[in-house]
Amino acid sequence: MQIDSLVALDRQHLIHPLVNYRAHEQRGVTILESGHGAYLKDAQGNELLDAFSGLWCVNVGYGQQSIVQAAAEQMAKLPYATGYFHFGSEPAIRLAARLVELAPPSLRHVYFTLGGSDADDSAIRFITHYFNSTGRPQKKQFISLERGYHGSSSQGSGLTALSVFHNNFDVPLRNQHKIPSPYPYRNPVGSDPEAIIRASVEALRSKVQELGAENVAAFFCEPIQGSGGVIVPPKGWLKAMRMACRELGILFVVDEVITAFGRTGPMFACEAEGVEPDLMTIAKGLTAAYAPMGAVLMSDEVYAGIADGMATGVPVGHGYTYSAHPVSAAIGLEVLRLYTEGGLLANGIAQAPHFEEGLRSLLSHPLVGEARSRGLLGALELVSDKSSKERFSPSLKLHERITEVAYRNKVVFRAFGDNILGFAPALCYTAADFELLFARLKKTLDEVLAQPEVRAAVKQ
Ligand SMILES: Cc1ncc(COP(=O)(O)O)c(C=O)c1O
Repeated sequence: MQIDSLVALDRQHLIHPLVNYRAHEQRGVTILESGHGAYLKDAQGNELLDAFSGLWCVNVGYGQQSIVQAAAEQMAKLPYATGYFHFGSEPAIRLAARLVELAPPSLRHVYFTLGGSDADDSAIRFITHYFNSTGRPQKKQFISLERGYHGSSSQGSGLTALSVFHNNFDVPLRNQHKIPSPYPYRNPVGSDPEAIIRASVEALRSKVQELGAENVAAFFCEPIQGSGGVIVPPKGWLKAMRMACRELGILFVVDEVITAFGRTGPMFACEAEGVEPDLMTIAKGLTAAYAPMGAVLMSDEVYAGIADGMATGVPVGHGYTYSAHPVSAAIGLEVLRLYTEGGLLANGIAQAPHFEEGLRSLLSHPLVGEARSRGLLGALELVSDKSSKERFSPSLKLHERITEVAYRNKVVFRAFGDNILGFAPALCYTAADFELLFARLKKTLDEVLAQPEVRAAVKQ
């Protein structure tokens, strides 16, 4: 009865992110009640294996008591300290310093946000300010990747290249441009890593040339495209894009909102290739989603450009009430301790081969065209014809069928509309958790394949 009334209240009042509002009213909400380690419990008492860390964010798993304690202590001591008017708090200062210690050496300054969208939006604002401050006001064009995701703020949603975030929102803006995704499974240049890297660099060069380098501010990219379908570019791709941006005289912004904090192995995906961006955006794993927080990290050069661009005493007009929130910062410090001294980063690296093997073992399944992963970020791409890589017809609504059957089999992951299944298990997963994941996943794929409409759509 209580569940029914919550579902009714939700239907009447709560607007959910990224759903069709009318479809949600019809379907009703699925209420999650508690979590422990890699497992969630719903309001009906079903225990679900979470293979997506919430929304690629609960990297440490649920129920970490040391985080609860750090938050409670900070709340009791000082629940809020503004960063305005030169005020600050110890946890925020320590967290900024710790992030600079861990991040690529080029990044020396940290502005805290509430999540990833406002981190990307803040990055755009800082870049605009920087070029205006340093006497290059014509540098206003932004380039990002097709299939990229950079949040859903008013400007960031235009750097995002997923049409669902554009529909009826009047984005992308006129100064936002795209180049092709380095999508190895479907790249017109084929799957040769060098050819893919060359094609991306070439596409960036020609886009900058078309716009005029003197007009281009920055190139934004994710090291691995998450919401675009977990697109894993060849090793060396990120470094090559960094070098191209330097050569072209444009800023290189890496959006590590998903990929940071051990998701792909190291603390930051940039680290794997020794990449030093001009700016980096982070969120999600920063607090493992125990409280909202994100950040923009920037180089000395960008920071100094903004700092020295203002007349004496005139503030830089960018601020959020909750920037550098002390409770989120205290949580962030404890989460970083769990990644490092707590051994979670090392566990993620040790477990990654089980994850990769499990995904690859499903390549023989009739529905699976490709398995790809880096660290604990991975995907299966489902196709109706393995030789031509033809997708299933959208009318089959395969992703909805999969989500429904997976839930019945007590496993949660992301089934994208184009039938890519995304996985982001928590860094606390054990070998036994992976065994259970792949058993439930295989059962799910088998049951979906047994549906007559799906069976009929598979060409073999
Ligand atoms: C790469 C990337 N950037 C930005 C965002 C936006 O972050 P948020 O949802 O915290 O606003 C996301 C969220 O998934 C993301 O994956």
